[in-house]
Amino acid sequence: MSNILTIKNLSKKYHTPKEEILAIKDISLNINEGEIIGIVGSSGCGKSTLLNILSDLDSPTSGKIIKNNLTDAYMLQSDALLPWLDVLENTLIGLKIQKKLTPDNISYVKDLINNFGLNNFIHAYPNNLSGGMKQRVALIRTLALKPNIIYLDEPLSALDYVTRLTITDEIYNILKKMKVTTILISHDIAECVSFCDKIIVLSKRPAIVKNIYEIKLDNPSIPSKNRQDKLFNYYYDLIWSDLDK
Ligand SMILES: Nc1ncnc2c1ncn2[C@@H]1O[C@H](COP(=O)(O)OP(=O)(O)OP(=O)(O)O)[C@@H](O)[C@H]1O
Ligand SMILES: [Mg+2]
Repeated sequence: MSNILTIKNLSKKYHTPKEEILAIKDISLNINEGEIIGIVGSSGCGKSTLLNILSDLDSPTSGKIIKNNLTDAYMLQSDALLPWLDVLENTLIGLKIQKKLTPDNISYVKDLINNFGLNNFIHAYPNNLSGGMKQRVALIRTLALKPNIIYLDEPLSALDYVTRLTITDEIYNILKKMKVTTILISHDIAECVSFCDKIIVLSKRPAIVKNIYEIKLDNPSIPSKNRQDKLFNYYYDLIWSDLDK
């Protein structure tokens, strides 16, 4: 597998009027093409900071990010839809900004809308969508640019359990089909074990990499089925015990 993203000795310090906060301390990682990587760590440890730096919204205090010929897209922790645009317009907004509204790209996005079961809502406004539908639309908007790597910050945390399980399978199938490298932040260890090829456990702040687990289930399948795998609980317990509480 070829390397797509390298993080070298990354550190991030925030300066506030009151204090200096070291959020990330010397993180180094290699991300390979096509992998789905989960990042877990306690609240406030520095996970969003890491994604903000990867996506160039913020800059590191020291260290380097090496991107090998990639286009990336970021779905923020609280990513809102634009209320005055309908579903199709919301999903096309990134392409519009980048002046890439070609017939091919539009039909690609319409296919995604179809794959996510939103065909009947293509001209609905965000106000009339359920939480799960809104998250689907935000994800389609992120995928519309055909990134080869996406950063997802707690994309499903606002959703109820059943919706979450359904969407996880949908997202998984689409990411694997499109071979999109994915970095997923989640508080939910079960979600990570069922969804990810590798899980990175961060320490409490300042975040350092405590451990990296390669998830090798007995009979890998889609996330909802993976939860019944023989080895699921083994990984769950391992990561749970590793997590700083
Ligand atoms: N712009 C900022 N200025 C100052 N401090 C910040 C800033 N952004 C984040 N921090 C601090 O850096 C630390 C890490 O924050 P971050 O948002 O990365 O945590 P997180 O792991 O994403 O937490 P959560 O799981 O709750 O989303 C926290 O202590 C936070 O208060
Ligand atoms: Mg966060």
